Amino acid sequence: MSGARKLSLTRRYHFAASHRLHSARFSEEENLRLYGKCANPHGHGHNYAVEVTLAGPVDPATGMIANLGDLDPFVDREVVQAFDHKNLNEEIAEFRDCVPTTENLCRVIYRRLRGFPAARLERVRVEETSKNSFEFAGESGEARQDTP
Ligand code: NI
Repeated sequence: MSGARKLSLTRRYHFAASHRLHSARFSEEENLRLYGKCANPHGHGHNYAVEVTLAGPVDPATGMIANLGDLDPFVDREVVQAFDHKNLNEEIAEFRDCVPTTENLCRVIYRRLRGFPAARLERVRVEETSKNSFEFAGESGEARQDTP
């Protein structure tokens, strides 16, 4: 359907989690220089907001891109329940060998959500603070292919 790609749906979710920005690739001095107080060994927390954007087509019968009644439990299971009140470095498998910057958090969330069966995942946007937000729309070829 012409123009269907231009329609998108964005839904907002929240979770709280702690992290520490520290890479084993760098010395303690380099970590401190790179990440500043975010490299504090005891970590710190954020109230993250996550925006999940799905793209059309609109189902002519329902008038919807996807039913929020399907999206909410999917995001809740894959992201909100998985990450809420967790230490990202210690408790999330994807961050065992990957610094939990919000850039990387965007990618991890995108990869957890791209299998949503009812619509195509367009983009994930994560707000770390009121000043910082990050967006990820997949590497080329990474998005789930629409089945004909
Ligand atoms: Ni932080």
